[in-house]
Amino acid sequence: MHKPDLKVNFAGIQLANPVVLLSGCVGFGEDLARLQGFDFAKVGAICLKGTTLTPRLGNPPPRIAETASGMLNAIGLQNPGAKHVVQDILPRISHWPTKLIANIAGNNFDEYGEVARIFNDSPVAGIEINISCPNVKEGGAAFGSDPIVAAKVVEAVRKGTDKPIITKLSPNVTDIRTVARAAIEAGTDGFSAINTLMGMAIDLPKGEAVLGNFQGGLSGPAIKPVALLQVWRVYEVAKPHGIPIMGQGGIENSNDALEFILAGSLAVGVGTSLFKNPLVGNEVAQGIEDYLAKTGHKSIESLTGTLKARSQ
Ligand SMILES: Cc1cc2nc3c(=O)[nH]c(=O)nc-3n(C[C@H](O)[C@H](O)[C@H](O)COP(=O)(O)O)c2cc1C
Repeated sequence: MHKPDLKVNFAGIQLANPVVLLSGCVGFGEDLARLQGFDFAKVGAICLKGTTLTPRLGNPPPRIAETASGMLNAIGLQNPGAKHVVQDILPRISHWPTKLIANIAGNNFDEYGEVARIFNDSPVAGIEINISCPNVKEGGAAFGSDPIVAAKVVEAVRKGTDKPIITKLSPNVTDIRTVARAAIEAGTDGFSAINTLMGMAIDLPKGEAVLGNFQGGLSGPAIKPVALLQVWRVYEVAKPHGIPIMGQGGIENSNDALEFILAGSLAVGVGTSLFKNPLVGNEVAQGIEDYLAKTGHKSIESLTGTLKARSQ
């Protein structure tokens, strides 16, 4: 059996394989370094926790709630601030044999630009823009739901960095393609799709909201069908420009990941499933390799976007 090539060039970032550990689900990755059996070289990249210009304490607890087939979170972008990440955290983690991608957010366009500038002078391989976090009152969802505003964020980040920019799209929109088109015009190099869907949980006996923030982002298996459709839609817009998609939303195993690749993803992300199985990234990469070998595909590119209509 031939050995398939798992490497992908994602928006100029050379990934050893297409599997990415998603933002907010491994912090800055340092727990992984202590995890027996985990191999950094066997994940393509790690997206670091969402980082803002100044430190944030996040939302009031509880910040996480379990639902029937997914999880709600309202962390509210707790992070130590961009300068701390660049000066104190990155020097400890940038030797890992994987790519690190910053995930940035801001309260206004200038802040996005400033955080991008701070990460520009750092070893991260790229910058993912979170325009879709639903938990931040000051902007968050608003940035990602209006194509004009989303484009302005991408422009501000573009001015702040020469590194590849990945725009992380929100599913909480009427038509994700209009936001994707605006981001392409503004200079994005890649997309992440999708971020969490807005949701709420209620404690009936108490008559109370479960989350301290009332609303949160739904992730995990519950959102996979929504995410597949949104990736497929974004692919239609991004493909003519050669702009790659990091598909994500409920991926738990390599078959899930392969479905996202067929729908148009060049890279795939695992997030919520890491809370159940922190080794899932390594396992998904292995499963993709086995599938390529079994089916005779030489590369991920040869599978990306190959979804066919149902045969009669
Ligand atoms: C606890 C938690 C924290 C998250 N924090 C961030 C964040 O800081 N920035 C961001 O862009 N996405 C964040 N996300 C969204 C994930 O990166 C991912 O896009 C989403 O959960 C869908 O993938 P999944 O179903 O595999 O988790 C977070 C998700 C969870 C569950």
